[in-house]
Amino acid sequence: MLTAYRGDRVQNDGSQSIMSINPDELSGFFMVKRIVLLFLLALFLTQSFASQPHHAKNGIAVSEQRIASQVGIDILRAGGNAIDAAVAMGYALAVVNPCCGNIGGGGFMTVHLANGKNLFINFREKAPLHANRNMFRNEKNKSTKGYLAVGVPGTVLGLDTALQNYGTLSRKQIMLPAIRLAQKGYILTPYEARQLAQFRDDFREQPDVAAIFLKNGQPYKAGDRLVQRNLANTLAAIAEQGPSVFYKGWIAHTIVDSSKKHGGILTLKDFAQYNVKETALIECHYRGYLLITAAPPSSGGIALCEMLNILESFPLAQWGYRSAQSIRTIVEAMRYGFADRNRKLGDPDFVNNPVDQLISKNYARQLSKEIQKSHFAPQHEAITFHETTDTTHYSVMDNKGNAVSVTYTLNGFFGARIIAGNTGFFLNNEMDDFATKPGEPNKFGLVQYDKNSIEPGKRPLSSMTPTIVMKEGKIVMVLGSPGGPRIISSVLLTLLNVIDYDMTLQQAIDAPRFHYQGQPDFIEIEPFAFDFLTQKQLQYYGYYTSQQNNWGAVEAIRVDSNTGTFTGGNDSRRPAGAAIGY
Ligand code: DON
Repeated sequence: MLTAYRGDRVQNDGSQSIMSINPDELSGFFMVKRIVLLFLLALFLTQSFASQPHHAKNGIAVSEQRIASQVGIDILRAGGNAIDAAVAMGYALAVVNPCCGNIGGGGFMTVHLANGKNLFINFREKAPLHANRNMFRNEKNKSTKGYLAVGVPGTVLGLDTALQNYGTLSRKQIMLPAIRLAQKGYILTPYEARQLAQFRDDFREQPDVAAIFLKNGQPYKAGDRLVQRNLANTLAAIAEQGPSVFYKGWIAHTIVDSSKKHGGILTLKDFAQYNVKETALIECHYRGYLLITAAPPSSGGIALCEMLNILESFPLAQWGYRSAQSIRTIVEAMRYGFADRNRKLGDPDFVNNPVDQLISKNYARQLSKEIQKSHFAPQHEAITFHETTDTTHYSVMDNKGNAVSVTYTLNGFFGARIIAGNTGFFLNNEMDDFATKPGEPNKFGLVQYDKNSIEPGKRPLSSMTPTIVMKEGKIVMVLGSPGGPRIISSVLLTLLNVIDYDMTLQQAIDAPRFHYQGQPDFIEIEPFAFDFLTQKQLQYYGYYTSQQNNWGAVEAIRVDSNTGTFTGGNDSRRPAGAAIGY
């Protein structure tokens, strides 16, 4: 019996309950009365779902899609722990956040268990066994679109590994909400409808995609219900048969057949051999806080720790929030972090990563001294690029002391923009995260080298940074973000905002961001990140800025160390999201 989830709770998405009323039912007085009530309800829901922090005592779930957050809370209320909730949210986001939530991609899960153990689950995609380092050298766009771009997906085995090892509920219970959401559909918010509309031309190119994500060839509109029957069947098969149906059964066969038909190199062996790894985390201290964060093949944790270690030498708070001096220092810390990221890191199953050196306080002290030597910016050649934001992060905690921080991705929006046959889900384009053309920028402008070159079975280097922050043995924050390389700076700035600048969680998340990665040689800024005079001062020292759109979305939790109360913060940049607690 699948009793854990009350599917009707989907109605907690206010727009859903409003839109599901059939207008034919309304007449005369009742019609007027219902319109007034609906208006009041809509007003209440708009107010209550604005990105306001949510406070709770028993459990909290935060994601960029409120229905998925509600699924997490329903699982906690049904007696599940934070790991159960995180797995259920992972599947739910695969339905209600199809750009980014996924079963056709991969990611990382950072966990603190109530028994004090910290763990890291690596379910990053792998290069197919027929891949080779030169496969994209003379190809344009093939690492971002179509079957050659696809890495062997890890999400299904990753979520299942977490559930089997650390969850308490059954796979069927956990997956029921996602299956129902796919079967019955969910109501698209204006933000989500606009996102789907942006990709209409790509969807039109693929009949298997168009059949689901276009309505009679046209984009869905806000208020429309998006039903995903094929995805529901796929999820039901996984719920029933476990990951074997994905990696050895009809799902693997369908993907491999479609890949062969369309010039891809995926084989059944790639799927059968896919494995998930549980490894040690990256740990570092910043001003008395302990961070537990992502290990390779993500660069995120190492780069974050390197930057924080450098910044610990400087009195950022005393210099003032967004003063030219503090911005310049943070930018220089980012410069070193990204330079090391791009040259020195790769999949630890294939290359040696100098982790201890990169996150050592000694190394950071040397770099801090370099930063102090001159206030002028070193010059690089400018490289331009187009940035997108299309991964997703979510955070969840229960009242037993378990905390889970997950970032998972298809890489680009809707991944490689392909769906194999009747599987119903997008496949990733994670091959582009390798150094596909060493020394040349990828889609995020990252210029990477040999350690991250393509090899059969290797996992591409990532920037995903699911993080948990602790003090004196207690959790104080859970956070992470999408945003490609900007993931690292989004997490960094959110932490600085809380720790150095004493902001509330919501202020810290919503504050305009900036990012610097060496190449391109300008500081990417969100509108209003710096005031005019500060920009002029920075220019004097040789730091130029460029305003960019599409920033990551930090979905985070903070815990009050005195009362144990959770505060959840959904990034205001993601109006479909919510922090929900109970
Ligand atoms: O693993 C990575 O670093 C990238 N594939 C993440 C992509 C991402 O965050 C997209 N959003 N901008």
